[in-house]
This record gives sequence, structure tokens and C-alpha cells, in this order.
Amino acid sequence: MNNAEQRARDAGLSVVDWDLELDEKFRRQLPSASAGQAMREYSRDKGMFYSSAARGFFVVTSHAMITEALKNWELFSSVGGHFLYLRETPAHRPLPMQMDPPDHTKVRALLAPFFTPQRVQGRFKEDAVALTREIIDRVTTLGSCDAISELAEPIATAITLNNMGVSPSLARDLTQAVRARSNPSTVGQDKKTYEQGVFTIRDVFLEILAKRRVERADDIPSALLDARVDGKPLDDDTILNLCCTGFSAGVHTSSTQMGFAFYYLASKPELRRQIVENPGCIPTAIDELLRFESSAVMGGRTVTRSAMFHGVKLEAGDRVMLLTLAANRDPAIFENPDRIDLNRKPNPHLSLGGGPHRCIGSFQARMIMQTLLEEWHRAIPDYWLGDMSNVTYEMAITGRMSAVPLQFAPRPIH
Ligand code: HEM
Repeated sequence: MNNAEQRARDAGLSVVDWDLELDEKFRRQLPSASAGQAMREYSRDKGMFYSSAARGFFVVTSHAMITEALKNWELFSSVGGHFLYLRETPAHRPLPMQMDPPDHTKVRALLAPFFTPQRVQGRFKEDAVALTREIIDRVTTLGSCDAISELAEPIATAITLNNMGVSPSLARDLTQAVRARSNPSTVGQDKKTYEQGVFTIRDVFLEILAKRRVERADDIPSALLDARVDGKPLDDDTILNLCCTGFSAGVHTSSTQMGFAFYYLASKPELRRQIVENPGCIPTAIDELLRFESSAVMGGRTVTRSAMFHGVKLEAGDRVMLLTLAANRDPAIFENPDRIDLNRKPNPHLSLGGGPHRCIGSFQARMIMQTLLEEWHRAIPDYWLGDMSNVTYEMAITGRMSAVPLQFAPRPIH
């Protein structure tokens, strides 16, 4: 038993072998089912438990405690990374996620102008509407489609490409790499797939950066090449890292999120009807669907010094998982947390994070989701789930379904 596990036991926390990397169970159920079990059975009234799996880590599930930890970056550092539930720390270190203020604040400020509501609602919105209509037009004649690979990923990739300076012709090839890169593994074939994803995206951005060094454009790679932090340019590794991470973060999270949204809407006709009859509820529906099943499952933090946290003695180096997906069902915050209420307001879910690292792409994500939900329900108001027998799930930093098969009456080709 390690020292952290002993301190967890001393504080009366449950100690569970909760192994996200190797336990097959997590591939067979929705991430919210796993997170819900963690909150109800393991955390109980303590708001946290300890997992003895991998290198051992605390898991916090209470909404209030996670909100506090997200803000307290001086105690809960992001530098050690999110992947603390893995057996080893992956070599790749995504930025700006794995930075703390004050450096984090300066680097984030360089990216912020590319994610403002004005930028997102302007050209990007027009592109999103045009592309969404084109894709929906194509699938309506088929009578079936996968909501992730055929709807959400092409749209999320195309909009994210705009900011990153990537040629649209590469969109299809990059999708697989983004999927692989988004959830690292340190074992077997999954480890090789992950590393391949990292290398593929890195090579694309090495090429883009080489071109931008010669001629700048209105995109993030160009801005980072011109950027100065404390009067100095960013080093090449940091620039490359920020480009690769920004691209993957934008595509993977928003497309898996739309997959979850379609899964619930396709399985619950009364929710679908609400959207069709009252499209004005889509903005609150997006937040509720984000709360209920989020592509961002958790945040990883490392403790910086000895401190008491809600009755638990923490020491420097302790790994802490903030299980935001569980917090989103916390009955202390949400009335009827296991019910989807598309008009829920206020809705202080933690799916877009909180504190200094709160998602920088949230306007873009909301715009893409709103566009897709509006256009889809106008064109195809009635649809249902297809064969789910081969669908698998992922419960890691991000959660996902391998596919969301939709069926609907095909429109005749004229
Ligand atoms: C529904 C879709 C999305 C979800 C659920 C989501 C979720 C999150 C969460 C939870 C964080 C905080 C991570 C932490 O605490 O360390 C985060 C940060 C971030 N997100 Fe998103 N995200 C989404 C879409 C996007 C998009 C579209 C982009 C960019 C195009 C993006 C780029 C980023 C970046 C760069 C960060 C790091 C911010 C920082 O460390 O300061 N995300 N996201």
C-alpha cells in the first residue's frame, strides 16, 4: 500500500481498483454510467475516493469540491498532466493544458483572439451552415448514417481547420489520427495507435509551419510565429505543440459531443419533439446534453504541497482526478440529475472545465452544435437509433461512442 492510499484510508475514503486503462467494463457502458457508479457507490458522502489502479490516484466527484480544485491552481497544478490514471506518463505534453499561471496566462492570451464570439459567429458560422446543409442533403437520400463519422467529424474538422491553416483536403486523413491522439494508452496496440496519431498530426503541422515561416496567413500557426512572451519568441517545440493540441482538442471533443447528443435525441422521441417544435430551446438543450453526457470526462491535477482538502491529507506529488462527468449529476447542485431537461436553467455543469483552463473553444463548440441541431431537425425531424450491437465506449480524459448509427425515412432522389 502506498502512502497516498494509506492517507485515503485514514480519512475514511473508499479504496477501489478502478482501472480505466485495462478494465474492459469501461468499453461496454456509457461514460456517465461509470462516472455515476463512481459517485454513488465509491465516493458516497465523502465526495471523493481513492483508486489503487495504475500509479494510484484520488478521484473527486463532488461538484463543489471539483469547482474549488479547478480554481485553486496553486495547490492543484496542471503541469503533471491529465493522464494520471495511466501506468506511465505519455511523453507528449499537450499545451496550454499542461501549464500553470503565470506562463499559462500569457500563452492562452495568444490563442484567445482566434476563439472570440465575433470570429466564430462570422465566417465560421457561414462555413458551418453551408457544410452542414451539404452533408445533410447527401445523407437524407440514404436513410441512415453514423452521426459521428458522417456528420459531426467532417463539420468539426472543417471549422477547426480554418483556424489552424490546414488544407481541407487533409481533413479525412486527419480524423483517424485525431481519434488516436485524443486518448493515450501505454499498453499494447493502443499505445502504438496513439503514437501514430501523435506523429501524423505533428508531421502535418511541421509542414504548415515551414510554409508559414515563408508567408504568414490569418491563422494560429502564423500568430504563434510572430508572438512574443516577455519580449521573447516562442520556441519551435512550443509552437508545434500548441498547433497540434489546438487542432485535436477542437475536432475530437466537439464531434464526440455531438455523437452523444444524437444518441440521446434518437433514443428519446419526447426530447426530439421538443427540439422540432421549439428550436428556440436549442441553446439550453446544448448545455443540458453537455451536462448529461460529456465528451470531457475529467481533468487531471498534481498536488504541489502538503494541505488538507475536505478532511483528506494531501502531499506534494499526489495525483488527483477531477471527475467532472460525475459532478454533473451531483444531486446537491442539480434537481433530478438523472433526468434530461432541455430547458434546465441555470445549468452550472463542468463539461467545459473551470478556472484558468476553462475551454477556450467553447463558443466554437456551441456554434457547431447549434448549427447541426437546427439544420438536422429542420430537414429530418424523425429518426431513431440503428443497430448498436457493435458500438463500444471509451471512458478516459475524453469519453466517446465508437459510432451513433441513425436511421430515418430516406428522401427520394430527384
Ligand atoms: C463540446 C466540445 C468541447 C468540450 C466538451 C471541451 C472541454 C474542455 C475542457 C473540460 C477543458 C479544460 C481542460 C482542463 O481543465 O485542463 C478544455 C480546454 C481546452 N479546449 Fe475545449 N472542449 C470542447 C471544444 C473545444 C474546441 C472546439 C476547441 C478549439 C477549437 C477547444 C480547445 C481547447 C483548448 C486549447 C483548451 C485548453 C485551454 C487551457 O488550457 O487554457 N475545445 N476543453
